[in-house]
Amino acid sequence: MLLLNRAVVPGLRQACRLKSTPLRLCIQACSTDDSFRPHRPDSTFSGDSSSTGGWRVMGTLLGLGAVLAYHDHWCRAAQDSKPRIYTKEEVSSHKSQKTGIWVTLGSEVFDVTEFVDLHPGGPSKLMLAAGGPLEPFWSLYAFHNQPHVRELLAQYKIGELSPEESVPPTLEIADPFADDPVRHPALKVNSQRPFNAEPPPELLTENYITPNPIFFTRNHMPVPNVDPDTYCLHVVGPPGGQSLSLSLDDLYKFPKHEITVTLQCAGNRRSDMNKVKEVKGLEWRTGAISTARWAGARLCDVLVQAGYQLGETEAHVCFEGLDSDPTGTTYGASIPLARAMDPEAEVLLAYEMNGQPLPRDHGFPVRVVVPGVVGARNVKWLGKVSVEPEESYSHWQQRDYKGFSPSVDWDTVDFDSAPSIQELPVQSAITEPQDGDTIQSGEVTVKGYAWSGGGRAVIRVDVSLDGGLTWHTAELEGEKQPPRKAWAWRLWHLQAPVPAGQKELNIVCKAVDDSYNVQPDTVAPIWNLRGVLSNAWHRIRVHVTQ
Ligand code: MTE
Repeated sequence: MLLLNRAVVPGLRQACRLKSTPLRLCIQACSTDDSFRPHRPDSTFSGDSSSTGGWRVMGTLLGLGAVLAYHDHWCRAAQDSKPRIYTKEEVSSHKSQKTGIWVTLGSEVFDVTEFVDLHPGGPSKLMLAAGGPLEPFWSLYAFHNQPHVRELLAQYKIGELSPEESVPPTLEIADPFADDPVRHPALKVNSQRPFNAEPPPELLTENYITPNPIFFTRNHMPVPNVDPDTYCLHVVGPPGGQSLSLSLDDLYKFPKHEITVTLQCAGNRRSDMNKVKEVKGLEWRTGAISTARWAGARLCDVLVQAGYQLGETEAHVCFEGLDSDPTGTTYGASIPLARAMDPEAEVLLAYEMNGQPLPRDHGFPVRVVVPGVVGARNVKWLGKVSVEPEESYSHWQQRDYKGFSPSVDWDTVDFDSAPSIQELPVQSAITEPQDGDTIQSGEVTVKGYAWSGGGRAVIRVDVSLDGGLTWHTAELEGEKQPPRKAWAWRLWHLQAPVPAGQKELNIVCKAVDDSYNVQPDTVAPIWNLRGVLSNAWHRIRVHVTQ
């Protein structure tokens, strides 16, 4: 009924603008309005020509009921020519079915409560914008910005944003993070300062290539604002060799190399470890992982120009970022020289991400991309490269991003006893449905991602609907990747019948890589005090409606 009422509104408004309009006129206006296109994809409104007369009668009756019920209300509303004004705070308090679901576009406010279930991309996608602006989502999914979508949205308009609300907030000069870039509102923020955020699961596997604005972000310090015109990368040469000071233009002169690489933070899925026993670290869920097409100069080409030889092995390439804390300490990490000098390892000094200059959050203007290796070694805002006999002395190489036995605690941990994490173990996670969702009986579609470190290809993903008693094989999407160079994830899906009579499903996934490494079944035996390397079977529970 509400939908119908919305649909008749244009006609009613028109009629009510004429003061003391007879009710008859209102009905006429409604039933002849060409724009009356009910938006529920429901056979009741299909407009089948064989039964047009019957539908017309029913439509008129329904229209009459609607008009009687709402005539006064709409006439009053229509006579008040001023739009209702809302504050952003009011809008942001409307983000559930209980309160109503409001969104804004420009200065207009819309109540889309009735439309959420009809959203072609699924309710959860529209809910990401609930209580806030649609623009950031429309820029990500540009097909929305079309006349028919705007027309549809117009039916839900309830007012305007207060004009003062459009004044941008002022920056606090003393705040070291004040110059951080603006972020996409879809990101689930784990910490604001420094900024750490992950895309929500339903967006994470929407695309094989993660759009730049929702690529997970892991910052330890404020984002440096680097001037590309004066940017200079220092590459320390070998004894007797030459050091290089490379501008961006110098880097562009090296052969441009382009590869698709998945980056994953060592703390991805830390939240699962926290459930077993508290760990120290940000509460990453399944989204500290993303995939991009990176382009730049190969590190080995740059090192060769600085005088290093291909085939050199015994040393480490240390990277320093331009981001620093108040004491001037910069972010740093290292990888073995053997990997850096191996052309097949394809380590990049990347200046492009998905065909664009790197976004500021992801290392503008230059970052290291080390395929198959933990995110922490992919140093952003790269300032310096040097070859050293030891690993980087940075905190993040020596005192973090290492794995320990579950029996080690903060009183007994000896960071020198464990190697720094480089290649990551095999990983997978379910992104759809989500834990706690309700699904229909009949068939369930399960979606997710799988990836393994060191270029090991994912060869299979097993999915169970009964907690691991029985298994289905998921369909791997996309193409096979070259052996030993499977740098990017495989997305996967499974469509399977929901076992009859089940009220709840315990859905599990696990991936197998081409070394037949498989994820461990439970978290407890791999628990560690920093909550890194969390790759146990991913488990969710969903309710089934009959
Ligand atoms: N590089 C610098 N300079 N500073 C950082 O804080 N974080 C590291 C790595 N490189 C970091 C950095 C970590 S821990 C990860 S997981 C990745 O960047 C995250 O890269 P992203 O933010 O582009 O996703």
